Amino acid sequence: MEIIRTPAEMTAWANKALVAGERIGLVPTMGFFHEGHLSLMRRAGEKADRTVVSLFVNPIQFGANEDLGRYPRDFSRDCQLAQDQGVDVLFAPEPHDMYPPEASTRVVVSGLTEGLCGKSRPGHFAGVTTVVAKLFHIIKPHCAVFGRKDFQQLAVIERMVADLDWDVEIIGHPIVREPDGLAMSSRNVYLSASERRAALCLFRAIGHARRRVRTGPVEAPVLQQEVEELLLQEGVAIEYVSIVDHATLRPQAVLQKSAVLAMAIKVGATRLIDNDNLFDD
Ligand code: PAJ
Repeated sequence: MEIIRTPAEMTAWANKALVAGERIGLVPTMGFFHEGHLSLMRRAGEKADRTVVSLFVNPIQFGANEDLGRYPRDFSRDCQLAQDQGVDVLFAPEPHDMYPPEASTRVVVSGLTEGLCGKSRPGHFAGVTTVVAKLFHIIKPHCAVFGRKDFQQLAVIERMVADLDWDVEIIGHPIVREPDGLAMSSRNVYLSASERRAALCLFRAIGHARRRVRTGPVEAPVLQQEVEELLLQEGVAIEYVSIVDHATLRPQAVLQKSAVLAMAIKVGATRLIDNDNLFDD
């Protein structure tokens, strides 16, 4: 596996692969890999001839009071794990190469970015779409894999690609969970043992909501309230519980097949998100 540090070298590599007629698959990440990231890498490997993983803790998607400074990192372990998945290139640029002091352009998707996580994280999605747009230009992938764990992020990126007529296939990958149901996340390392137990309320809430939609009609506001009560029993702080359409992210009053239960909570100081397409098998 090659490790590439600068955008210019990355583009030179991509141009060579394109001239050789190879399909490039990209997995954008911020590192500190877990099985969720690794399954995205394997998926890209199935869809492309060459797999590129970007590892960049993107400063512009973090708010002033967020965890940029203490975001978990382990570069040598990440290199080993990516190599074990058959990744061809790990692209790990430095912030000053991605954002030289004179850089002043942002790629902004409106509408979809204002609700859910966008409410408490103003500017977050503009940071995400700006870095993903840059990665697409630098690496020129035919396809890129994103996790449904961050389902609003996935919807926003799909919107950006459609709006800008970008010829890149966006592949959404299912949420990978720990054996007890907690969605894998680089931020799970912040949790103490008791917080880790409390965090399982997210998965319990999904189980409850799934059972409710299977056993008869239920109104969205009723279900939402039941989920909130279930979460509050664990003493976590709720940022939002919403039932929304998976593509428009608009709240659903009457539950449709496209319903996604989306939740963000704080367990101690750690912010966790989870979601589920309630009618999927
Ligand atoms: P990061 O949080 O490192 O996640 C990288 C990719 O892994 C994202 O597409 C995310 O949805 C996916 N992922 C994380 N946990 C997952 C899980 N448990 N199951 C399935 N997929 C999972 O998301 C980002 O980085 C950044 O915002 C990025 C897109 C790289 C832009 O900076």
